[in-house]
Amino acid sequence: MDLQFKRHRRLRSSANMRALVRENHLRAEDFIYPLFIYEGENIRNEVPSMLGVFQVSMDHLQAEMEEIVAHGIKSVLLFGIPAEKDECGTQAYHHHGIVQEATRFIKEKFPEIIVVADTCLCEYTSHGHCGVISGEKILNDESLDLLVQTAVSQAEAGADIIAPSNMMDGFVAAIRAGLDKAGFLDVPIMSYAVKYASAFYGPFREAAEGAPKFGDRKTYQMDPANRLEAFREAESDVAEGADFLIVKPGMPYLDIVRDIKNNFNVPVVVYNVSGEYSMIKAAAQNGWIDEKQTVLELLTGMKRAGADLIITYHAKDAIRWLNENQ
Ligand code: PBG
Repeated sequence: MDLQFKRHRRLRSSANMRALVRENHLRAEDFIYPLFIYEGENIRNEVPSMLGVFQVSMDHLQAEMEEIVAHGIKSVLLFGIPAEKDECGTQAYHHHGIVQEATRFIKEKFPEIIVVADTCLCEYTSHGHCGVISGEKILNDESLDLLVQTAVSQAEAGADIIAPSNMMDGFVAAIRAGLDKAGFLDVPIMSYAVKYASAFYGPFREAAEGAPKFGDRKTYQMDPANRLEAFREAESDVAEGADFLIVKPGMPYLDIVRDIKNNFNVPVVVYNVSGEYSMIKAAAQNGWIDEKQTVLELLTGMKRAGADLIITYHAKDAIRWLNENQ
């Protein structure tokens, strides 16, 4: 036979051979696990559309954190569901706000865990938008002040990283200046720089009780059809002082993750959002897919696309499965 062709299968011949040439790997340190802290007592509600994800009140946080630490998770991302909401989202920047209290608790009891605080108003405003409003308009500059207050109060509570997700223009510049002025020069900003107006956030809005009461978020979150806009958003955030760039959602936007990874020199974070999680869970529950294999493939695909870090509700399971495989 004088056929000319390459024998790619040589490097796939056994599990050890495949491991030898594997290009991308998942590690426990790659994952950031979102937590929903509910103001109140004795609350541990499973989110119906997000099986395995719970809203927990402070009195359940110790147990939840022990489980998280036992799994080997190193970083958590905190969302709060306040007992009271108002027009201006006062509980977002209150000294005793739910995220501030949870941050203090975690940093006292589990000091080595990295606390990332989500900085947004939508869970705290009565109208459910990420900024303040006038009529049905979401006001940009007026919202910045409140977001700065939120970030500073989170840093005061001990947050290791501030993660603003509100998509107002100038939020990185404003928050950086506010943190510096308050003395938090060393607290980094993980910016949700590239955040699309996505239907995949549906289950999260149930979990965080933060759905907008009117309209949608399309005047501040990005159009899913756009790629160059992602460059503009990332450029301005880096120029304003972002230390990390988040691309969100993950699965339908891995091309954008690769673009951002290739063009910027800060760590790239992908947010594997609630709707992506719910789809996998639902299909797995029906026995239509193998959950373990699917999740590990999905998360590996995100790293291959260029993600340095992954925010994911699958973190506990993924780390458990990775340990089993070793
Ligand atoms: C709040 C926020 C949202 C998510 C993270 N922060 C929802 C939204 O913008 O409507 C979504 C996360 C997920 O779906 O898992 N601004």
